Amino acid sequence: MSQLYGVALTGTGSCLPARVVTNDEFAEALNLDTSDEWIRTRTGIRERRFAGVGETSATLGAAAARHALAAAGLAPDAIDLIVCATVTPDLMCPSNACLIQAELGCRHVPAFDVSAACSGFLYALSVATQFVRTGAARHALVVGAEVLTRAMDVTDRNSCILFGDGAGAVVLSATPVLNVGVRNLRLYSDGSRQELIQVPSRVTPVPPPGPPMLQRLDYLRMSGREVYRFAVTRLVELIQQAEVDCREMGLAGPDVLIPHQVNQRIIDAALEDAGFPKDRVVVNLDRYGNTSAASVPVALDEALRTGRCRPGDTVLLVAFGGGLTWSSAIVTL
Ligand code: UT7
Repeated sequence: MSQLYGVALTGTGSCLPARVVTNDEFAEALNLDTSDEWIRTRTGIRERRFAGVGETSATLGAAAARHALAAAGLAPDAIDLIVCATVTPDLMCPSNACLIQAELGCRHVPAFDVSAACSGFLYALSVATQFVRTGAARHALVVGAEVLTRAMDVTDRNSCILFGDGAGAVVLSATPVLNVGVRNLRLYSDGSRQELIQVPSRVTPVPPPGPPMLQRLDYLRMSGREVYRFAVTRLVELIQQAEVDCREMGLAGPDVLIPHQVNQRIIDAALEDAGFPKDRVVVNLDRYGNTSAASVPVALDEALRTGRCRPGDTVLLVAFGGGLTWSSAIVTL
């Protein structure tokens, strides 16, 4: 067998749109039957960011990638692979990854998108890890970027209050040291529950009658309570499984947990069931809401930049969402 490499995380970056939308704006500007008090107590969210004119998941993703490259001390031409996780790409074709490749001026390297909703970043991380582990790429860029506010129904108080826009990115680099970086990944799906969260596409299974035309873009639909129950159950399982995985690798356990930022009550319920200490969990959903594929890399970047986690720490990244999909990664920084 040819040589395998360690997959070190050498840089992180993030980019959030400047426009802050508070809970009160939903009730006032959007004339929605809700309140700051309801949103805060039921979700923990206080505000989120909305992409502005000219901002898309590709532009936010490219900006996050630039920060990650700077943190890694690499120029764009050092990158051998670009994988972007998104369910809100700028276009059906080409991929956001290709738009990011052009925007950054990377070489003509493989670039493609991964679609796994809120698990997307960990799915993309998994793909890039295989390239770096096997020596097919020396440095890989992994981006999670979304503008879900463009796909939300502002008349649906169950779902629209949850989402925000943003992007996060990491650089993975091959190293001869095996026990650093991405140590373990777990990915799962259950398509039989696909109807629980859906963002209908412009391309539908049934062609519209008459001359070719675009279907109306429909909005995100979600069964909140069912997704809530699914999220708590899977989050508990993933934490408990990661503790077993850590022990098998000779680690005491994850030092820090970075869960998908979706609802404070989901996180709290899972921590209690799994017996995981609350003070070792990174949460920023109060400021950004649920940014889908961007949520985990944005929280990871902030945690590193604020000293919430440090080089040497073992971090457990956990995500779950549409598909249904759920996933985890154990990473030693
Ligand atoms: O990335 C994964 C994607 N999504 C998720 O993970 C979402 C997971 N689910 C959730 O976070 C929660 O289920 C929600 C925040 C969506 C809803 O919270 P909940 O505590 O599960 O509320 P509920 O659906 O049980 O609804 C309770 C009440 C209902 O009123 P009635 O029927 O009791 O009169 C809702 O109509 O709260 C009402 N409600 C609201 N009231 C004020 C729902 N949304 C709102 C709102 N403002 N924004």
